[in-house]
Amino acid sequence: MSEAPGSHARTLVTAALPYANYKPHLGHVAGVYLPADIYTRYLRLLGEDALLVCGSDDHGVPITISAQAEEVTPEEITAKYRAVQREVFDGLGIEFDVYSGTSISPPHRELAQEFFTRIHERGDIEAKDTEQFFCGSCDRFLPDRYVEGTCPRCGSEGARGDQCDACGNGFEQTELGAPRCATCGSAPEARTTRHWFFRLDHYEEQLREWLEGREGWRENVRNFALGVVKGGLPGRSITRDLTWGVPVPLEEAAGKVLYVWFDAPIGYLSFTREWAEAQGDPEAWRPYWQAPDTRIVHFLGKDNIIFHAVIWPAMLMAHGEYQLPAEIPANEYLNFAGEKFSKSRGVGVWVDEILALYPADRVRYYLAAIAPEGKDANFSWEEFVQRNNDELSDVVGNLGHRVLTFTGKYYDGAVPPGGAGGELMTELLPTIAEHRDRWRSALGRYRLREALGVAVDLARVGNRAFDAAEPWKRRKEDPERCGRDLAALLELVRAVAGLLSPFIPESAARLWAAFGEGGAGPTPGEIAGLGRDTLEAGTPLAPPGIIFPRLELAEE
Ligand code: MF3
Ligand code: ZN
Repeated sequence: MSEAPGSHARTLVTAALPYANYKPHLGHVAGVYLPADIYTRYLRLLGEDALLVCGSDDHGVPITISAQAEEVTPEEITAKYRAVQREVFDGLGIEFDVYSGTSISPPHRELAQEFFTRIHERGDIEAKDTEQFFCGSCDRFLPDRYVEGTCPRCGSEGARGDQCDACGNGFEQTELGAPRCATCGSAPEARTTRHWFFRLDHYEEQLREWLEGREGWRENVRNFALGVVKGGLPGRSITRDLTWGVPVPLEEAAGKVLYVWFDAPIGYLSFTREWAEAQGDPEAWRPYWQAPDTRIVHFLGKDNIIFHAVIWPAMLMAHGEYQLPAEIPANEYLNFAGEKFSKSRGVGVWVDEILALYPADRVRYYLAAIAPEGKDANFSWEEFVQRNNDELSDVVGNLGHRVLTFTGKYYDGAVPPGGAGGELMTELLPTIAEHRDRWRSALGRYRLREALGVAVDLARVGNRAFDAAEPWKRRKEDPERCGRDLAALLELVRAVAGLLSPFIPESAARLWAAFGEGGAGPTPGEIAGLGRDTLEAGTPLAPPGIIFPRLELAEE
């Protein structure tokens, strides 16, 4: 299903749960959180029922290692970063209906255990004795990145127990060359320990058929997932020798927890239930997860595709009571000046940094304009300033300002009469409707860049029409005709504000309010009416002043 409208009644939108050990940077925001927010706002503008759910991914080795490095408990570090994340998303106007965390969400532990138990009872989980590294001096097993060594595939140094960042391959940790404990540096020994494996091979057939039927999905997502499935799915270990996490609900597994990637996606469900509780309607989560006419849409970065398009659907198939994902718009990465964002190397831009210098909507605008959809995108400060100035200030701002001040000055600050049926109105209304339709179709296909371009393009049409109408001359020669032209241009400005509103909600609402409708921005009925209904003559205008002042490049 490529375009959003169709035979569904509601959409649950999720954004990949960030590990609760970092402050998001623009790279995270551009590919996942901002697109999810824009898409949800868009659905609501169409009058659809939509819910946007997120929270922190609190479990697993990434968290315990960071806690150890910062000398705090996992509870403390997750609370700290969850608050930081909330602040960052808030600052950018990314509005989740719920932002929780997998270690604090009341229903999470039980739900994750219930998934395990059901899959186990179906015979899809199998116990095996495995060899794992154990550090004698730390007196513990070394799951995942607690052990480092030389990559058995590419020979790079610094590969971790679960995978090598240099070549992207995964392997058994005991294959690592020259293994050492990441905490104390000692050489670990291999010890036998029992773990539980999810028999993904039981779902190969079902996954292949399901993925083959996902027409309209992004090709990169579908092909990648199909490739993985066709390559054969070995059992995946879903337990770890750790104390931090959801305890494995089996007596013989005392002291073990579920692998973080097993419990994390269940967070989407836990948080939806938490949201329902907070609404005072504890059953309200059900339609979003269980009704056949729901769509579940997962936004994420490309490194998460395998988990969301293969393993999570297999978990859902095994569980049997929830709907499978309807769409997985996975994005590529945003780089910084041609390099990967990197906290350790200080490469990149953090959200609080840029928000100290520029308003949120300017950041949202640029990130949506370069959204890393088909390929990696690149952030540059020069381009950030330039696109904001060339497009928002010079095209959109200029148009709004010209049309509104001119009308204010010469037509008593109200919509002039005669627009409906007027010459320019007759010409512009179909153009407005056509742009709105293109915008709707592009957003329905998760093409933010294209949809944003359509909105700005409509403003360009308006600027050309203003120039051609020469109101500064015509007002003297034929003031009534000039008034009709302005009424048409006002219509177009209002439409531009409407189409921009999922992208830059705060400034779009200010522009929208110029037409006397209060500050809440457009309603679904008003969006549907663009290009059809017209503003009533005599409607008083409230010009908002300069909404998009030109930006200067901040000194670094
Ligand atoms: N925390 C993971 C990451 O940053 C993403 C988890 S998404 C979820 O890669 F679905 F598992 F929650
Ligand atoms: Zn050690």
